Amino acid sequence: VTATIRVDAGRVKPISEHLIGIFFEDINYGADGGLYAELVQNRDFEYSAKDGARDKNWNSTYAWSIQGTNAELSVSEDSPIHANNAHYAVLEVHRPGAALVNNGFDGIAVKKGEKYDFSVFSKVLDDTKGGKVLVRLTTKDGKEIAQAAIRVSSTEWKKQKAVLTATADAADAVLSVCPQMAGKYALDMVSLFPQNTFKGRKNGLRADLAQTLADLHPRFVRFPGGCVAHGDGVDNIYDWKGSIGALEERKPLRNLWGYHQTRGLGYHEYFLFCEDMGAEPVPVVAAGVPCQNSGTCSHHSVGELGCGGQQGGIPMEEMPQYVQDVLDLIEYANGDAKKTVWGKKRAQAGHPKPFNLKYIGIGNEDLITDIFEERFTMIFNAVKEKYPEVTVIGTVGPFYEGSDYEEGWKFATKMGIPMVDEHYYNTPGWFINNQDFYDRYDRNKAKVYLGEYAAHLPGRPNNMETALAEALYLTSVERNADVVTMTSYAPLLAKEGHTQWNPDLIYFNNMEVKPTVGYYAQQMYGQNAGSEYIASSVTLDNAQDAVKKRVGVSVVRDGKTGDMIVKLVNLLPVAVNAKVELPSLEGMNTTAVKTVLAGKPTDKQARPVAGTMEVSEKFGYELPAYSFTVIRINKN
Ligand code: AHR
Repeated sequence: VTATIRVDAGRVKPISEHLIGIFFEDINYGADGGLYAELVQNRDFEYSAKDGARDKNWNSTYAWSIQGTNAELSVSEDSPIHANNAHYAVLEVHRPGAALVNNGFDGIAVKKGEKYDFSVFSKVLDDTKGGKVLVRLTTKDGKEIAQAAIRVSSTEWKKQKAVLTATADAADAVLSVCPQMAGKYALDMVSLFPQNTFKGRKNGLRADLAQTLADLHPRFVRFPGGCVAHGDGVDNIYDWKGSIGALEERKPLRNLWGYHQTRGLGYHEYFLFCEDMGAEPVPVVAAGVPCQNSGTCSHHSVGELGCGGQQGGIPMEEMPQYVQDVLDLIEYANGDAKKTVWGKKRAQAGHPKPFNLKYIGIGNEDLITDIFEERFTMIFNAVKEKYPEVTVIGTVGPFYEGSDYEEGWKFATKMGIPMVDEHYYNTPGWFINNQDFYDRYDRNKAKVYLGEYAAHLPGRPNNMETALAEALYLTSVERNADVVTMTSYAPLLAKEGHTQWNPDLIYFNNMEVKPTVGYYAQQMYGQNAGSEYIASSVTLDNAQDAVKKRVGVSVVRDGKTGDMIVKLVNLLPVAVNAKVELPSLEGMNTTAVKTVLAGKPTDKQARPVAGTMEVSEKFGYELPAYSFTVIRINKN
């Protein structure tokens, strides 16, 4: 196949600088047991049968056990540290030797020489004197690989800390807490964090996973969902206020994907993560309604994952408080550290400087009903009035036959919502055949945040076929990035053995991070974003329409560096020999950086290969079969 690719320097338009971002939702153990670096599972003893939708044995002692004899474990609610954290462990030791043991999330992975921060809230009960308590990490076969000691003798809750240094690598160690004196001990918030977190933050993020996300160069992070944002019932809506402040006072929340959210990774940590990556925070709050306004979700059958909460939305008499909560969120992010209530709380959490929030999403894939419209309008009007500088992102939900997409757009247009969140999971064929999706969009209507999308094949793999379909589609999104302001592939993270959804962008276990080929396609876009689109076209010689659609080009210029970036996608089983005609390269380095991702459609292991190539105003380039190429021509 031969082709001509032309770039027209006369037709240039500014495009969004926030085009490629990430969608973070706590699905597939993305947060607890995933990005959140806490190594102890059920540290708060708040797991309950409601959390573990697939395993009804979940209870306050899940992941905990007693090792040894002459000791008993029970759970008490008598005088807890805080009402939000109502349960704690009572360890009664009749004769020293036994230990309270935590298995972590599929074990605790530690590295030789690394330091781990242990902490616990504890007190002695009844007439226990207390004394030394050993804290240990041991391997599965009982070998001790770290030890430290604390003293527990207070009759009031007290936080104790120790540092453990691992003397060996272990994939699945356990943590044990072992009182050296007989007696009754109350223990809660038993925590173990690697000191090596992303950017070294306390209560931080798993360094390797967070770095993998940062390497995408995301221009924004959407959080906390997805369905998690609006929950599967009014009582399951993600209340942001319950996710900030002292860890022991946060409100744990049932995760509608079938597990428990400690919310140690809460709103404050999300904001910090954005700041650490130079990405815009995009929080999404519920529009006063849970999933589908009805407590049943499109992805969960009623009862299966705990779905089936209350019908309808937040009662109207409670809406003023809910609206205030949303305004308070913006104040938490942007308010003055001394003069505002919520700005002060942010400062108390260690961040006096505002987070500079520019966007807020209201709603997620909601049905466009009266219940929704009434509540959305209240929130939207209040935000617009108090914070006109913050762009509200409305929801038009999923795009499929019979969805509320059209209704959503009508409502958004009527209300003058500045941006709407669209979602679609479709076949690669859909992405190939709908590259004109945004060409037709009315530029006078709302801008678009393509908040969730992914190419789905039967069996739901993430392979070269899906990655190339997404890369090809993104050439058309870049062309339309005057109207499409942001995009995020979804979902982002998935822990092996704990996935509720496939495909995802990054798989991981306790030891390894496994980015997919789709990840690399996203990374090539994220690392090669532009602020100006330069019109380009590809003409295939003697080819039918179906063939033509499988080759795409997009050319952008990065305003900050002046670099010109050419993206070329070939979804054909054969190479395409292209003549490329570029505008003037005066002042540009003609030794360009070339990155190629290529492989068979079923390939899941392909990786981008970087090199250099000579370019000129007219040069030849062979697009390999099934490939995505980025040619970056740097400004001198
Ligand atoms: O990305 C997974 C789920 O898909 C999200 O939670 C929901 O918004 C969407 O339907």
